[in-house]
Amino acid sequence: MIKHVEKESEQFFYIGNERLSCILKIAFGKAQLLHLGAPLGEDDFAALGCETLFGWGTDVLYKEGDSRSCLDALPLAWSERGSGDYRESPIELLYEGEDICPDFVYSSFAVPEHEEPDAVLPHARGEQETLRLVFTSKNRLLEGLTLELRFSLFETALVRQAVLMNGSDKPLRVTKLMSACADLHGRFTVSTFDGGWIRETHRHTVPAAQARVVNESANGFSSNRHNPGFLLSETGATDDAGTVYGFNLLWSGNHRSTVQRSAQGFTRVLQGISPEGLCLELLPGGRLETPEAVAAWSDRGLNGLMENMHRFVNRAVIPPAWQSRERPVLYNSWEGCMFKFSEGKLLSLAKKAKKLGCELFVLDDGWFGARDSDTAGLGDYSVNRRKLPNGLDGLSKKLRALGMQFGLWFEPEAVNPDSECYRRHPDWVLTPPGTDAFQGRNELLLDLTKSEVRDYIVENVSAILDRADVRYVKWDMNRHSPVSGNKAYAYILGLYEVLHRIFDARPQILLEACASGGNRFDLGMLCFAPQIWGSDDTDPIERLDIQDGLFCLYPQSAVGAHISAAPHSMTLRATPLSTRANAAFFGAFGVEFDLDGMKPVEAAELKETIDWYKQHRKTFQFGRFSRNRAEEGAVCWQVSSGEETLCALFHRLVPAGPEIEWLSVNGLEPDRLYRVEARPQLLRVAPFGNLLKHITPIELDAEGMVVRLADRHYTMRDGGFSAECSGAALRSGIPLAKRFSGTISNGF
Ligand code: DGJ
Repeated sequence: MIKHVEKESEQFFYIGNERLSCILKIAFGKAQLLHLGAPLGEDDFAALGCETLFGWGTDVLYKEGDSRSCLDALPLAWSERGSGDYRESPIELLYEGEDICPDFVYSSFAVPEHEEPDAVLPHARGEQETLRLVFTSKNRLLEGLTLELRFSLFETALVRQAVLMNGSDKPLRVTKLMSACADLHGRFTVSTFDGGWIRETHRHTVPAAQARVVNESANGFSSNRHNPGFLLSETGATDDAGTVYGFNLLWSGNHRSTVQRSAQGFTRVLQGISPEGLCLELLPGGRLETPEAVAAWSDRGLNGLMENMHRFVNRAVIPPAWQSRERPVLYNSWEGCMFKFSEGKLLSLAKKAKKLGCELFVLDDGWFGARDSDTAGLGDYSVNRRKLPNGLDGLSKKLRALGMQFGLWFEPEAVNPDSECYRRHPDWVLTPPGTDAFQGRNELLLDLTKSEVRDYIVENVSAILDRADVRYVKWDMNRHSPVSGNKAYAYILGLYEVLHRIFDARPQILLEACASGGNRFDLGMLCFAPQIWGSDDTDPIERLDIQDGLFCLYPQSAVGAHISAAPHSMTLRATPLSTRANAAFFGAFGVEFDLDGMKPVEAAELKETIDWYKQHRKTFQFGRFSRNRAEEGAVCWQVSSGEETLCALFHRLVPAGPEIEWLSVNGLEPDRLYRVEARPQLLRVAPFGNLLKHITPIELDAEGMVVRLADRHYTMRDGGFSAECSGAALRSGIPLAKRFSGTISNGF
């Protein structure tokens, strides 16, 4: 509910539901944030109204003589430099070339029933229960300049946005306009999700202190360097207990969030577009909307926060046609074929993939123009008839006849200089002002701020999608941007327009975004694409960190995760198929290696694995995710829905002679009896080579024909068991069956 109370010169607003509430106060014409978090009572504002008297020493008062008006000491929901608040300001404006004091004074509020979304920016999709409150403030110096602060309370998250409207007759320049400003009380640590190509979203935690923590991307995109999402955890919070806030932004370009503790003990959080190099012109009559900023809260630790954040993303961000819709098991041609394939090879892979249980065949890079390597062809859409003599529609028909859907890769935002597109339109390339464009992965980006470029992409991609009955698109983008500031901002708006024009009319297509893996893993892209390729790194041990980071902010169904070959091509690490599968289960699952070289044991195991996965896919993709207690260095992920709970316990290294291992399971009913099934891991024969020769009557060559032959056909089951026990026993921990650990295994 929303409640508004006026008391003398002050106003209070309560906006809350059963899980979350926010209390705001207007005093001196400024919006204060008295509370964000626990679902308080609608009248609790009375106790929270901060009447602290400050204004001593060097402090500055907003209202002369009124020591309650020291804005620097108050928990604000918005702030402006020049009004006595010396913490970081969310807004900076230039008027007639001068830095003007952006002093906005509250004038009215509204409780709109519906959203009126901007046509291009992605928006969280509200439902009837979504509560909306809008404050309007007027600038003190420039008549006609208006600021709206929008608060929308979803079931488990507060979404905020700032909108600036220039009703004056003079143009204005905006050098900074953040989406949200919030002063929170408590002592926190800040966790950011950082990395780079093939090591995205590793969690790093530092204290929120008086020195500012800045989480910012500057490569033109939300970036693999610093994901826009971050956490604030109250000191002592754990996976299961304590207060944790999660923040994110519906924006795919340069972003910036800052966290800073003030002298009075409030922690200021700013979220928005990075102001770096930004100077946007706001003409008379113009309006500037920021991207939406999200804040979720839980007092049940990180697991509670993840539940709330996942629920918000699943219900308000993921395109409606794909919310709670199970994603097909896909086979992707990239890691198995790269650029080298023929129709025959693809069909041979598709037949095998179908037999294994895959439902969608995705043709990745290399199907168009002169694209035999990453040096040529990008930007062209003519099908390579040497590789695909029957065209994409021919291939698509044959796949359908096999019972598989057809998916296709595109990288529409880029061109190779060696392409027909570039030769015809060298002026379409995105170029930093005053210099030539420079290349990344032999490519240049197209200038999506130009309408003719957007039309070219929309027309070409749409025509192919319709002609070849494409049911899945992987939308890739493989380099950092050459531009910054206004141009980088306008580029993202151009991208959103293109995505709207292609995909709004084709909801049957499952879109997976990708940017060399996670260079654009954000809520803006998730408004169009229900899933995003998590990382080019498919090594399951690397994925433990990458996916663990992603799950702090995004639900499992949003994270593309595939089984690839071992040893892994990036780490040269050999992992069992079961480990690769166990990591990929917790995402939008697929298979991505050359099936033609598979041994019979591998094919049998993979088929059994995919069959098993399909029986549990709904829980893996949409179940409640949590991190479970696990010994040092191990990772335990759990998903639960209805009657089913699935846990995976991973080790980064196999120790010799390990201690007995215990599994403890979250969230069960203590008095209920549960059936426990541990999936056995299959051990291959070949790695035992040297051990085998000691126990067989004849001396065996560890790499010889006999061992190789046995390895093709036999596996040993290890570690499986079943049991029955109470929820209470499972919570406290049950011992797991011993696995192979430097001695002959159980089943051997
Ligand atoms: C980068 C992507 O992340 C890969 O999965 C693959 O699609 C390649 N691009 C193709 O060039």
